[in-house]
Amino acid sequence: MTTIQLLDHPVRRYDRVARSLHWVMAALIIAVFSLGLLVDTFPPSWEDGVVNMHKLIGVSILCLVVVRIVWRAGHKPPPPEPTGALLERISSATHISLYLLMIAVPLIGLGFAAWRGQGLDFGLFSIAPLMSENRGVARQIGEIHELSAYALIALASLHALAALWHYVVRKDNVLQRMLPSK
Ligand code: HEM
Repeated sequence: MTTIQLLDHPVRRYDRVARSLHWVMAALIIAVFSLGLLVDTFPPSWEDGVVNMHKLIGVSILCLVVVRIVWRAGHKPPPPEPTGALLERISSATHISLYLLMIAVPLIGLGFAAWRGQGLDFGLFSIAPLMSENRGVARQIGEIHELSAYALIALASLHALAALWHYVVRKDNVLQRMLPSK
C-alpha cells in the first residue's frame, strides 16, 4: 500500500475521553513502574510513603482501566487504519494484551500487599490489612507481580515504538489517531 493510499482519508481519531484516558493511564503506568523500581533508592524513612503512593497509583490504574473498558464498550473506536491484515492483527493482539496486563498487574499487586499483611492508606481513610502476613506466599506473588509488570512495560514500550515507526517510517495516520486535533 502506498503512502498516498494510506493518507487519502482524513485522520479518524479516538474520541476525547478515550484519548484522555489513554495518556493519563500511560503517565500513571510510567509513574507507578518508576516508583516500584526506585523504592530502595529513597531514604529508609520515605519507604512506607513511597510504597503507599505506588499502591494508590496502582489502584487508580485499576479503576481507570475499568472506566476505559466500559467507555470503549459504549463508544466504538474508529475503524483501524488500513495497514494490512498482519499489522492489524498484531496491533489488536497487542491492545488486548495491554488491557489484560493493566488489569492483572495491579490486581496481583493488591494480592501481594494482602499476603504481606499490609493495608492501604488513602489519606482521608484507610483499609486495614485483610490477613496476617504469610511470607512464603507473599514472596511468590511478589515475583509474579514483578514479572508481569516487566511484561507490561516491555509490551507498552514496543507499542510506543510501533506508533513512532508508523509516524516516522510509514508516514501513516496511526499515531495521530491518539493525538489531539489541532
Ligand atoms: C509514548 C507512549 C505511547 C504512544 C506513542 C502510544 C500510541 C498509541 C496509538 C497511536 C494508539 C492507537 C493505535 C491504533 O489506533 O491503531 C494507541 C492505542 C492504545 N494504547 Fe497506546 N501509546 C503509548 C503508551 C501506551 C501505554 C503505556 C499503554 C498501556 C500500557 C497503552 C495502551 C494502549 C491501548 C490499550 C490502546 C488501544 C486502545 C483501544 O483501541 O481501545 N499505550 N496507543
